[in-house]
Amino acid sequence: MRRVFRQFPIGRWAALAAAALGPAAARATAADTEIQAPVLAAAAEVPLQRPEIYHPGWIDLNKNGVEDPYEDPAVPVAARIEDLLARMSLAEKIGQLEQQRMDETSARTDARLLAAGGLGSYLGAAPGPGRRNGLQREAVEDSRLGIPLIFGFDTIHGLRTVFPIPLGLAASWDPDLLRRTEAFAAAESAAAGIDWVFAPMVDVARDPRWGRIAEGFGEDPFLASRMAAAAVLGFQGPDYGQADRVAACLKHFVGYGAAEGGRDYDTTEIGLPTLRNIYLPPYRAGVAAGAATVMSAFNLLNGIPASGNRFTLTDVLRGEWGFRGFVVSDWNSVIELTHHGYTADKAGAGAAALRAGVDMEMVSDCYRTQFPTLLAQHRISPAQVDEAVRRVLRVKFTKGLFNRPYTAPQVIDPAVGRALAREAAARACVLLKNSGERLPLHLSGGKVALIGPLGDDAGDLLGCWPGLGRREDVVTLHQGLAAALPHSEVAAAKGCDLEGGSDAGFAAAVALAQSADTVILAVGEPALYSGENDFRSHLGLPGRQAELCARIFALGKPVVTVLFAGRPLAVPELLDQSAAVLLAWHPGVQGGAALADLLTGAASPSGRITATFPRTVGQVPLYYNHQNTGRPMREYRDGPRTPLLPFGFGLTYTRFQYSPTQVSLPATAGAPVTATAEVTNTGAAAGTEVVQLYIREFACSFGARPVRELRGWQRVTLAPGEKRTIAFALGAPELGDWTPAGSWVAEPGSYEVVIAPDAAQGQPVPFTWN
Ligand code: BGC
Repeated sequence: MRRVFRQFPIGRWAALAAAALGPAAARATAADTEIQAPVLAAAAEVPLQRPEIYHPGWIDLNKNGVEDPYEDPAVPVAARIEDLLARMSLAEKIGQLEQQRMDETSARTDARLLAAGGLGSYLGAAPGPGRRNGLQREAVEDSRLGIPLIFGFDTIHGLRTVFPIPLGLAASWDPDLLRRTEAFAAAESAAAGIDWVFAPMVDVARDPRWGRIAEGFGEDPFLASRMAAAAVLGFQGPDYGQADRVAACLKHFVGYGAAEGGRDYDTTEIGLPTLRNIYLPPYRAGVAAGAATVMSAFNLLNGIPASGNRFTLTDVLRGEWGFRGFVVSDWNSVIELTHHGYTADKAGAGAAALRAGVDMEMVSDCYRTQFPTLLAQHRISPAQVDEAVRRVLRVKFTKGLFNRPYTAPQVIDPAVGRALAREAAARACVLLKNSGERLPLHLSGGKVALIGPLGDDAGDLLGCWPGLGRREDVVTLHQGLAAALPHSEVAAAKGCDLEGGSDAGFAAAVALAQSADTVILAVGEPALYSGENDFRSHLGLPGRQAELCARIFALGKPVVTVLFAGRPLAVPELLDQSAAVLLAWHPGVQGGAALADLLTGAASPSGRITATFPRTVGQVPLYYNHQNTGRPMREYRDGPRTPLLPFGFGLTYTRFQYSPTQVSLPATAGAPVTATAEVTNTGAAAGTEVVQLYIREFACSFGARPVRELRGWQRVTLAPGEKRTIAFALGAPELGDWTPAGSWVAEPGSYEVVIAPDAAQGQPVPFTWN
């Protein structure tokens, strides 16, 4: 069979990604103005410890009375780097490659270290402008060359204004919403003295046991790629050198989400086709969007630690994709090369990490302590060290740190953040069930019973990695409902704790539910069940919550359940027995207000899950874009093999009907095919449908392809009775795949396409693409 490969270089791919983001990119500047009203930034409330050191705005570096080329902002960055590099001692170079956590108790050591030019970066605490500027002054003013520090922090889903967890933000299927939340998070972070955020996490995760699934965008590489690009654009804007922007960091490169058994840090075995097509694409999209940095992961990848992996860190990241920023290791992941048994000692770890392509070492000190000897022994070369320093300096110059090293006071309107957090939380929620159109609630009085440990909980709504979020900023579900239902009596009974606990509160909860006109359950996972180093071997409701739910269901009333979670949960009984279920994730500071908006119909649910919900943990891993088997697969002996809820699933307050998918072939070979379907709102309310496009390729020359792959979607809002023809163009960018060697190749041949409301519905239509 004749095969014509159509390949796209990264520039073309980036252009496509930008085109896909389209309006997002175009609105970037307009949105910047959204975060500038005259109220003191939340983070800037940290009192200035040494106000005399403020240098608002631009400074002229002039260390020795003469303006050297590297100090001159008019000189091109590449020339500034080379000039500076030529002046640096080995110790100063190694210092640039070291990142340490900020420690309140080590001020004196820090001062000496910084004056010697011995440190490149701090992480850990959001320093606030006062402390940050104090340390920065020591680096800039007390050192020989005045190289500024870069301050990194885990702003994962907001800093003080905490938005829904990233898995929830992804459920919006709205990259522009993510861009706006990250832009706000960037401004808050910058005001708090942070130059660089360790986000977005773009690890594809197919295993809900893994706690860090909460931090990413789910199981699909296409959706995660769009989200990765949007997040980078949000954090960095058109130029991360702007004072209200931060450098982004794509993490954790790569394969970290495939930890065996869902156990964080555990090993990963990923074949090249899966690495290329599932785990690498979101990174590539983030690099194409201009991400300043990448973090190397903790895991072993096919026997080689990700932080010592030259293939991924150098051949792919730099060689194939042209990444020009720097790679920071994850926390201690350089010394952990030795803990993995991959290197024999600290020296071996430092040498392997540098040679693989890790430029800056986070926390462990293999570089600082071992490089002089390694250089003397010719195990690493001066050119390798110089190249790593060059990359770090390039980001510092681009961030503008040499001429604007200090954080100046900035004003951010928290009300703008609150409104955005409320919008984002409403858009993140997913309606999982709504039998008899139980929702929205139409209440003009009566008694509402809010039962469960999350009814009036604040802290858990912040989710994992809450940044500087404070529980007192959180609108609980109880508060949100009470405000939204002024004519009803909203009473809460916890019933039991989130974990462990006793059933002592059951009787009061049951009595309250019995006496109420409307019963709402607020149950789910504590925030601490997700995030780093947290994983589960059961995916049900923890503690006594399932029993509490059973007691409430036994009353025979139609129960609305609000489910809080950092991952897909296996809760078939809950879905079965509730009249309606609204998935809230961990929704952030405005969670209660947004949930009240949705429950009362002031807002309409439009989220769709981006990771499959299994029926039992025994089905895991379970993901929609799996390979087909050679022979028909039977069910599990003790249960179905289908998921509880498929990827892409989510309901609305109306109904949508899809016509069969139609394909029209192009007149000329290689031109795009067009797939269309007519979508009609057949219900009585307006609603937003996420119209999804899936393809399957047959007889691909470099290996079998999955049964379905998402290659497009459109969010469509339709009035009752309104219909619209939704069209998708399917050309080489949509029909291709990554070869094991790393080229995007679209082959003429047999395909199927379906336009559907989720990954399990719709009748695929075959076509041949020439
Ligand atoms: C985590 C990273 C995080 C880093 C810095 C590590 O333990 O894996 O995601 O960015 O710490 O806090």
